[in-house]
Amino acid sequence: MIRIVMLSLMLLPCFHAGASSATERGKAIAENRNKGNCLSCHFVQGGEMTGTVAPPLISMKLRYPDVTELRSQIWDATVKNPESVMPPYGRHLILTEEEIDLVLEYIYSL
Ligand code: HEC
Repeated sequence: MIRIVMLSLMLLPCFHAGASSATERGKAIAENRNKGNCLSCHFVQGGEMTGTVAPPLISMKLRYPDVTELRSQIWDATVKNPESVMPPYGRHLILTEEEIDLVLEYIYSL
């Protein structure tokens, strides 16, 4: 009996950390071709078939100490660069505000 209790206690964190973590959900949105599709243009460490037309998404915390600046890049890249080929995810309602926050969480962890 005690063994079963201990086993379930050990498994609990595994279930909890599953697909529900914000970073994991953000990663899924970023990789989804019908959602963020960020990897078609950006290199991401550990990503498959990543693109090269855009700067690699690395060391984001160092390069964007102000996370709101990073969010605004995703929300509407044309603010910084009117010629940007990066889709304005917020302005064009490509992603919901919640999805942008999840992608942001993921990108900020890179
Ligand atoms: C069609 C290609 C394309 C797609 C898709 C794309 N981007 Fe970009 N992204 C760019 C380009 C090009 C730049 C370089 C700056 C500019 O032109 O706006 C850029 C710049 C950035 C930057 C700033 C990088 C730096 O070095 O400071 C971030 C952060 C970023 N993109 C995140 C994302 C995220 C997150 C997604 C997905 C939700 C995404 N991008 C999808 C093309 C793209």
